[in-house]
Amino acid sequence: MSDLVSTPSPDPAAEHAERIEHRWAAVMVAIIVLLVAITTFAALHHAAVPQARVETVDPRTLHLSGEFIEGNLGSALEPDGSVTVRAVGQQYSFTPSCLLVPTDTQVTFRMTSADVVHGFLVAGTNINLMLVPGYISSLRARFDAPGERLMPCHEFCGVGHEGMWARVKIVDKAAFAALAAQQRRLSCVE
Ligand code: CUA
Repeated sequence: MSDLVSTPSPDPAAEHAERIEHRWAAVMVAIIVLLVAITTFAALHHAAVPQARVETVDPRTLHLSGEFIEGNLGSALEPDGSVTVRAVGQQYSFTPSCLLVPTDTQVTFRMTSADVVHGFLVAGTNINLMLVPGYISSLRARFDAPGERLMPCHEFCGVGHEGMWARVKIVDKAAFAALAAQQRRLSCVE
């Protein structure tokens, strides 16, 4: 053993292996430095440039006044032809429990939570928001084809989380317009 350590001319294969190890160590350090730099930049950027538009709402008075009172929930046809869908998540359901939307129309979802953080996701689409009490989550979407999609809560919100889901029913644009002519707010709750 002591013989190996004190060898005056080291094994070239061992030297080569050591060079490669040093190179890999340098690559690892570079990756760590890069990750730390990205994290630092993201944190500073987020602090310096806050979200452009934050809308707040008092979760304690949702049912008493304002945009999210029960009579204003559901889908509304706007004068410009777009549709606004308002809904509230609470332990452990969504109100309304079935959202009605038309095809080929700009749909704006405006949602909030009445208690804890919930998730709003429409299966098979890229619609995915968090519903945070005190804030209005807003998202624009467009649906191409009629059909029905599941809308499960995807943020763990308590013991009833698994059973918290709703549906999104997409109907033909003309059929939606006919319904909207009869009723101010639409949903597909039966
Ligand atoms: Cu609401 Cu999970």
